[in-house]
Amino acid sequence: MNKQPIGIFDSGIGGTSIWKEIHAILPYENMIYLADSKNAPYGPKGKEAIIELSIKNTDYLIKQNCKLIVVACNTATTNAIDYLRANYKIPFIGIEPAIKPAVLHSKTHTVGILATKGTLSSELFHKTSNLFASQAEIIEQNGNGIVELIEGGKLYSEEMNALLKLYLNPMVDANIDYLVLGCTHYPYLLPQLLKILPKHVKIIDSGEAVARQTKAILEKHDLLNSQTKLAETKFYTNGNPEIMASLLAENNKVSYLDF
Ligand code: DGL
Repeated sequence: MNKQPIGIFDSGIGGTSIWKEIHAILPYENMIYLADSKNAPYGPKGKEAIIELSIKNTDYLIKQNCKLIVVACNTATTNAIDYLRANYKIPFIGIEPAIKPAVLHSKTHTVGILATKGTLSSELFHKTSNLFASQAEIIEQNGNGIVELIEGGKLYSEEMNALLKLYLNPMVDANIDYLVLGCTHYPYLLPQLLKILPKHVKIIDSGEAVARQTKAILEKHDLLNSQTKLAETKFYTNGNPEIMASLLAENNKVSYLDF
């Protein structure tokens, strides 16, 4: 059982930011990464459509004999993970925006969150943000268009820079001291974000926490791979493999797969 791969899926290539965190602390785990880029972005789609797509991705990963699935997408987690956990036997790890640490550490009691429409409008997100609403002002911003630019290979474009300024400047004016990245595509924006945001604004995401949780759940279910040779990850996309490969180190091969 323990040699079985971990399955990871995202609406596209952004979840590779989570894969990097998992691979860093679980280097002996084989993994299969599915980027559903053909259907990206998930953000503007309704809950039903997001559940349907999550089922499709999960079924493929289960056919590949995965022992655990990481939903490396805030939008799919906040809309579909309850359904997945109720309908499949294997463990699922999800990712949600890191509102809690941001609110707890904020000195200006004002935090910004950049996420997709699907995440911001989900019940799960509302539940969490309501828990902390009395402790800080939470400024929500829909990152409409960002995922499309990253999926289109325009990570470092002028268009991206203009969009980020449009979304972030009002938050800075409102005196945020924390920016929560609520989408797994966004950690790739870090170089641009550091240029746009004043130095005192801290940027946080949930990648490391997801990796730690993945390890803890594998341990709990006795599913860790006992091998001590570096494991391999198979990367599949139903979009453009070259764009996906540009986010990864050269030794990682990305294949096209029509799923
Ligand atoms: N990476 C996905 C997330 O974390 C992007 C969602 C989308 O496709 O809109 O939400």
